[in-house]
Amino acid sequence: MSALKRMLGPVAVITISNPPVNALSPAVQESLLKVLKEINLDPTVKAIVLGGENGKFSAGADIRTFQTREVRSAASLEDVNSALEKSTKPIVAAIEGVALGGGLELALGCHYRLAHVKAQVALPEVLLGLLPGAGGTQRLPRLIGIPAALEIITTGQYVSAPAALKLGLLDSVVEDNVVQAAVDLAHNVIGQPLEPRRLCMRPLPCPPNVEKLFDEAKVKLKKQFRGAKSHQVCVDAVRAAVELPFAEGILKERELFLTLFSSDQAKARQYAFFAERSVARWTAPSGANWKSASPRPIRTAAVIGLGTMGRGIAVSLARAGIQVIALEQDKKQLEMGSKAVMSIMERETQKKQQLGHALNAPHFGFVKFTLDFNELGNADLVIEAVYENMALKKEIFQRLSKMCKPETFLCTNTSGLNIDEIASVTDRPHLVIGTHFFSPANIMRLLEVVRGYHSSPTTISTVMNLSKVLGKIAVVVGNCPLFVGNRLMGPYVEQAVFLLEDGYTPNEVDQVLEEFGFAMGPFRMSDLAGLDVGWRSRMERGLTGPKLSPGVPACQREGKRYSPLPDILCEKGRLGQKTGQGWYQYERAGGRTAVADPWLQSFLEDYRKAHKIRQNVVRHDEILEWCLYPLINEGFKVLEDGIASGPEDIDVIYTHGYGWPKHMGGPMFYASMVGLPRVLTTLETYYESNRDVPSLKPSALLKKLVTQGSPPLKEWRSQLGHHQSSKL
Ligand code: CAA
Ligand code: NAI
Repeated sequence: MSALKRMLGPVAVITISNPPVNALSPAVQESLLKVLKEINLDPTVKAIVLGGENGKFSAGADIRTFQTREVRSAASLEDVNSALEKSTKPIVAAIEGVALGGGLELALGCHYRLAHVKAQVALPEVLLGLLPGAGGTQRLPRLIGIPAALEIITTGQYVSAPAALKLGLLDSVVEDNVVQAAVDLAHNVIGQPLEPRRLCMRPLPCPPNVEKLFDEAKVKLKKQFRGAKSHQVCVDAVRAAVELPFAEGILKERELFLTLFSSDQAKARQYAFFAERSVARWTAPSGANWKSASPRPIRTAAVIGLGTMGRGIAVSLARAGIQVIALEQDKKQLEMGSKAVMSIMERETQKKQQLGHALNAPHFGFVKFTLDFNELGNADLVIEAVYENMALKKEIFQRLSKMCKPETFLCTNTSGLNIDEIASVTDRPHLVIGTHFFSPANIMRLLEVVRGYHSSPTTISTVMNLSKVLGKIAVVVGNCPLFVGNRLMGPYVEQAVFLLEDGYTPNEVDQVLEEFGFAMGPFRMSDLAGLDVGWRSRMERGLTGPKLSPGVPACQREGKRYSPLPDILCEKGRLGQKTGQGWYQYERAGGRTAVADPWLQSFLEDYRKAHKIRQNVVRHDEILEWCLYPLINEGFKVLEDGIASGPEDIDVIYTHGYGWPKHMGGPMFYASMVGLPRVLTTLETYYESNRDVPSLKPSALLKKLVTQGSPPLKEWRSQLGHHQSSKL
């Protein structure tokens, strides 16, 4: 962990060295200051180049130390930046790989910035619940102007080197040896005045309606990142750059940084960062794991069914340069599917071009559309995405088993059917696995990898590796009805519907959950996805009906409370946005603007009267608990059953697939922040008065953890037994 120095003529090259990503720890910062001091005192040095070891400039401050180290040391990076800026010898930042967060701030302290064409720069602090706290909010606007800086700082977006060059963030972009190019540049600027290159001295170009710009940015960010503080505070920090001289702006930035640094939202975001990386380290029940298993390369993949999911899956594969064979059941569906695939690809290509991204040739792999099952024979991997129907899926897997070469992996995109049952009809259950993509599959990054009882480590490893190639975040889960994500959704949606029976409107429930941070509450979400998705699945599993008879207070099935409301709406043709009516009404079929529907209001009133349902008045903050605690409880049950191997897995699934706000970490992290005793006591109270709602019965694991004094989340994994997947 250090800053190394070597001489190339009169140019001193400083190299940051802290594997794997040259994170800026206090030790690195101290070392940089020391080397800089030495160099400035050395008369033989005329210019300086600052770079990073192993092809990476720096990924910024060491996030691992945020929750343990003193804030004071996190601040000292600005001392380094200030020292770089004040240097009397010109300093050129040689950016390879990434310059992120504190790494980019370091480069902003330099007098010149030169990058490799494939490098990326960003200030992603906002995504960690923070703001750039080492001068980034004061220097970047002075370099590229307020609108562009505001966009980069408040969204944390990664900017490619060519795009950064256009913005004026970089002075030059090169295709080969960056350090050599930086040394050449350093040579050329020896003796030139440094004053204009010091960002702290630059006047800030201010657009005329700057106040409006800030206000509008806040409104937009509030909508985009509901309930998240850091995006709002980032705007305040950039505003300080406009309102205050540089030195005071730096003090204001620091003050705002400190308000975020120890917040729960920052803790949640930083936890989410490491959780995302931890899910790649899977272990199978056999003990085989990500290190011991070897993935096989996938060059050709087949997709069966080009409906909602198959289209996005085919595009994701093709985008990664994989040859795709896409199969449909008839000519009409094939035509529709192929048109849809081609149009997604065209839109994606246009968007990439607009953003100035270099298109790797070819941008998309080749997609062959076919009706002929025989064409699938040579695929390395097949993903089935036909209707959610067990008989149909079994028929397809039987055919695949006969048709495909013996080593072909057979994957199903089922959203909850038994993987082992599907695998049982094949000659290779060890090569069968669930690949549960989320809709739209070309956009959503989450992939639930559902290991069956027989799925081999090579199969798991191959699919995990494929997910990386596709740019997805994959989580390995066990096989149970609905897997992890949809299984936890069940109690959440069920409670939301019970709240309607109890006297609330869809809008009241949605609003509470949207204020919490969900992009959409359960009813708006259900209207968007289509009420018929769940309805069909319930019919397939024999879970629709019975209907309530007038005068019966609440519907029960096998002794458990059950609400027929969603089924009734479907029977009335109210399937959500697609039919223009669902839990809300829309301007037309396919409309997007949800408006409260007076018909639904009076229907619910009649329903409650007819069935003598007692209005159960719940406080607004309790709506949150009624919906979220059963979901969290199911999360503990999933851990107990070994279906998820750790709380991080559930949290990644929820933040990436179900709109759980990242600044709330995920359901399990949220439970740990609320406090397990509170979650347990609330569930116990609710269950006491609702014995016919099993999802309220506290899980044994939750009770065990509370009995043990509620250990921190990172210790929960050690309380779990061995995982078992189901077997037929
Ligand atoms: N601090 C500590 N560890 C970091 C890190 C950082 N800033 N960035 C990455 N790592 C670690 C990862 O946790 C991972 O560790 P494990 O192998 O133990 O899991 C390892 O480096 C490699 O990271 P990835 O698995 O993500 O590898 P990748 O090649 O896919 O991506 C990357 C590399 C582009 C740098 C990516 O990790 C990334 O985007 N990191 C984000 C960095 C970031 O947000 N920086 C801002 C920090 S805040 C700041 O700088 C301001 C401040 O002063 C407060
Ligand atoms: P869909 O109804 O939109 O598309 C299914 C497609 O399969 C249709 O185009 C149909 O013509 C085709 N098909 C049917 N039988 C076929 C056969 N024998 N050969 C070739 N093609 C055939 O369905 P959707 O929504 O894409 O779902 C597919 C699978 O993905 C289901 O298992 C579903 O549960 C799952 N899933 C769906 C999600 C969603 O949001 N729609 C999300 C995640 C998983």
